[in-house]
Amino acid sequence: MLYTPANWGSAPLEWTREHLLGLADLSVEEITIILDQAQRFRSCILESSENSRAIPLLAGKTIVNLFFENSTRTKTSFGLAGRRLGANVVDFASSTSSLSKGETLIDTAKNIQAMGLDAIVMRHSCPGAPKLLASRLKDCVVVNAGDGAYEHPTQGLLDLLTIRRRFGSFKDLTVALVGDIAHSRVARSNIFALLKLGAKPIVCGPSTLISPYWRELGVEISYSLDDILPRVDVFNLLRIQFERQVTRPFPSIREYARLYAMDADRLARCKKDVLILAPGPINRGVEITPDVADGPHSAILDQVTNGIATRMATLWLTISAMSRRLAAR
Ligand code: NCD
Repeated sequence: MLYTPANWGSAPLEWTREHLLGLADLSVEEITIILDQAQRFRSCILESSENSRAIPLLAGKTIVNLFFENSTRTKTSFGLAGRRLGANVVDFASSTSSLSKGETLIDTAKNIQAMGLDAIVMRHSCPGAPKLLASRLKDCVVVNAGDGAYEHPTQGLLDLLTIRRRFGSFKDLTVALVGDIAHSRVARSNIFALLKLGAKPIVCGPSTLISPYWRELGVEISYSLDDILPRVDVFNLLRIQFERQVTRPFPSIREYARLYAMDADRLARCKKDVLILAPGPINRGVEITPDVADGPHSAILDQVTNGIATRMATLWLTISAMSRRLAAR
């Protein structure tokens, strides 16, 4: 079937949020709406040959990528998602902007907004930066593409979509997040959502990288990957975020890999249908060995495709909610 904005239908009215700042804020119903729409974009648009993989639902809208930290997948996939929805996407390069001349973030954003933008996709090293921006900007969607070590909602959602496509639901699924939990915004977004959806999250890694506070939220803590291998359905293998660490959390990378790398030997002790995820970039030989990363249990590249679908859903839902409000004024 050939999809057009006319036969695709309008965005679900139950979705009313104009910003996506974190998964801690979302209800199960809201998470389900995004995942359902992302699944629809994936199967009807991204996997379609008829539509040249695009549908102009956001024609005439302008989205700016405001990234103050490095990014490969996230920035590219927000850009592709916006373009596949027919929006204009502009990349803002923070290193060459007036921020290096002393301009505040709010002033930069106000200036960008005065250029007539519909959405800002923001990555920043300070937790809460996208929330601050959302509270100050009028009539402009803000999507958090990662704020420091706090949240990375679209990564969490694309992980959820990858899990749901494999297992059908989240109820009673045991999902282990392994690695640098302390500095991982991916871990936080995953945990906040998994708890709401009825899954059983486990955080696993060196004790120097896991706060005991997770127990209070109902998250299991394990310092031994070998102990949990046979009872986990999904492993999400996180990178050691050296760039955020102020002290060395363990003696050597070799020792870390010996205890926590997912390799063929450990994989053989996992459930037969175990799913291996990683947000990327992966460090081959550290958190995952190449044979596992490229093997049949790995959904790492499927996550990248789901990332475009999830970001299409996020941009469409938030921008549509804002457009509805503005049209009713
Ligand atoms: C993650 C991030 O930036 O938080 N990567 C990503 O968005 N694909 C994880 C990481 O950098 O390790």
